[in-house]
Amino acid sequence: MRCVQGRAVLGLDRAAVLRLVEPYREVVIDVGTGDGLFAYTHAAAHPERFVIGLDATRENLRELSHRAARRPARGGLANVLFVWASVRRPPPELEDLGHELFVILPWGDLLTGLLEAEPEVLDGIAGMARDGALLTVVCNAQVWEEPVPKELRGFTPLTVERVRDDLAGRYARHGLRLMSASLLSEEEIASLRSTWARRLAHGRVPRFVQARWRVVRPPSTDRAGTGS
Ligand SMILES: C[S@@+](CC[C@H](N)C(=O)[O-])C[C@H]1O[C@@H](n2cnc3c(N)ncnc32)[C@H](O)[C@@H]1O
Repeated sequence: MRCVQGRAVLGLDRAAVLRLVEPYREVVIDVGTGDGLFAYTHAAAHPERFVIGLDATRENLRELSHRAARRPARGGLANVLFVWASVRRPPPELEDLGHELFVILPWGDLLTGLLEAEPEVLDGIAGMARDGALLTVVCNAQVWEEPVPKELRGFTPLTVERVRDDLAGRYARHGLRLMSASLLSEEEIASLRSTWARRLAHGRVPRFVQARWRVVRPPSTDRAGTGS
């Protein structure tokens, strides 16, 4: 698995990943982490959790992965790791690892995969989670206001009702059971420590749809556990 540390890319095998996460109570995976601010601040606020920020674009990860590798006095954090990979081909090293997963303000083929319940994306996310893990997805519902970006023309707008009436059934086929779907309040949006949440909330209150899913694996597809 390719881990970014500033300008460097390091390889980590499964045994090395397990050694890294072993001292921590829980593993959190932030899928489509972008510049990694959410992952970094989550790791700083939860020293009992090991946080993995995953993104398909290596350059996005450079700055905060560099900061995380510095001495603690200079922003270094031992409990965060940045992985360069697409969720469509998740590193096998992360299989069954996450107790909690986040997808905050996805874009590109991560967003379209979630909007269309594409098996590759849903299985990619669920495959990095343990049975019973919680997945929180926050999407910007305002992008369907005119002018709709060309990447999203032709895609059905995301609403709370669409999550409940359409996506819930389709996600269930990939082991994701809907727990709740709601519009985030102004306070909830303000507390989202992500660069894109801040950018979109600048000078206005955006409309973010949040859906929370439980990863439920049928016993027949249960894979080997990773301990604890
Ligand atoms: C709008 S940014 C949001 C970043 C961050 N979550 C935030 O809130 O600031 C969307 C991110 O999703 C990443 N992304 C898009 N497709 C992806 C894929 N297939 N696998 C992993 N990351 C992907 C992009 O590289 C980009 O960094």
